[in-house]
Amino acid sequence: MPHNFPELKNDLFLRALKGEEVERPPVWMMRQAGRYLPQYMTLRKKYTFFERVETPELACEITLQPIDELEPDAAIIFSDILTIPQALGIDVDLVKGKGPVLENNIKTEDDAFSILAEDVPQKLDHVMKAITLTRHELNGRVPLIGFGGAPWTLFCYMVQGEGSKTFDKAKSFLFQHPDAARHVMKELTKATIDYLNAQVDAGAQAIQLFDSWSGLLSPDDFNEWALPYLMEITKAVKGVPVILFAKGSWYALERLSYKSGASALGIDWTISPEFAREKTRNEITLQGNFDPTRLLSPIPEIKKLTKRMIDRFGTQKYIANLGHGILPNIPVDHARAFVDTVKEYGSEM
Ligand code: CP3
Repeated sequence: MPHNFPELKNDLFLRALKGEEVERPPVWMMRQAGRYLPQYMTLRKKYTFFERVETPELACEITLQPIDELEPDAAIIFSDILTIPQALGIDVDLVKGKGPVLENNIKTEDDAFSILAEDVPQKLDHVMKAITLTRHELNGRVPLIGFGGAPWTLFCYMVQGEGSKTFDKAKSFLFQHPDAARHVMKELTKATIDYLNAQVDAGAQAIQLFDSWSGLLSPDDFNEWALPYLMEITKAVKGVPVILFAKGSWYALERLSYKSGASALGIDWTISPEFAREKTRNEITLQGNFDPTRLLSPIPEIKKLTKRMIDRFGTQKYIANLGHGILPNIPVDHARAFVDTVKEYGSEM
């Protein structure tokens, strides 16, 4: 379906992803729509989480909140990675103070083999509608990012049934039932490819793949249980750049940089810019990596540390971001100081 979208006025983010020269690095924040914004909290009182995700007008409004408030260089569609487990028949509830709960999680080999990726884009049509609507409402101010969870991270929630520091149930299932686990990974890969390409057709101008829990795997297990699926998905996404964020997997940066086909790699805050640049041979765009809790520092300190981060990554082949999602207790002024410091970089002397 051909869309007639407004012309893009700020292409800094897309140029940085292509490795083209930029006047200054673009900036956005993971989870930039969320509980630290008072306007988000107002909508949160009126609608449940999945009402907000599944109503295109609400998802669009929430996506635009940080764009209006902070004016970063990219928008990310308001949704969740757990839409895919839902489309595969696993019920997801967001419980206050606890996070996601997946009641009918995978417990047996039979449960695992019953997972089939069928009609995923159709089942998640509300996400496509939200993307198309948001492209129009953005009016070309900044590009719109679509996203999904990587198979390993989705598997973690689908087996564990809830958030966890260790995802011990998911890991023990993986090691005890590797054939059943492989079946789930393959279906998740197919579901994610269909889903992300439908997002691109709907108007997403870049895709980020979140492997939030890849750092729980050893390097060898990462190579077996995460990397092949990340590569398959990245190569199958048609026509737009892909950002891979394999959180905690510092050991995989080198392999991801020359094997994955990604346009950029997300870097978490435990990795130094020098280490990341060296491991990726300065060949690929890097995105990150301000410690999200550092946004609790006094504003002058945030400005100093943000400048220092850019000094060390360099202004080219670089997208300024946090090293993970923004936290609910960050004052809006502190988030603004981060974004503004990147936007002013190099212009004050
Ligand atoms: O970046 C954005 O602004 C887009 C929105 C976005 C959300 N979830 C909204 C959300 C994105 C990119 C995600 C991805 C996501 N969801 C990930 C990967 C990114 C990461 O942080 O590692 C994961 C692991 C999830 C699963 C998930 N969804 C969890 C663990 C939680 C609860 C944690 C929390 O922050 O409360 C959610 C709920 C969720 N997804 C919220 C938001 C704004 C909070 C909902 C609320 O309480 O209002």
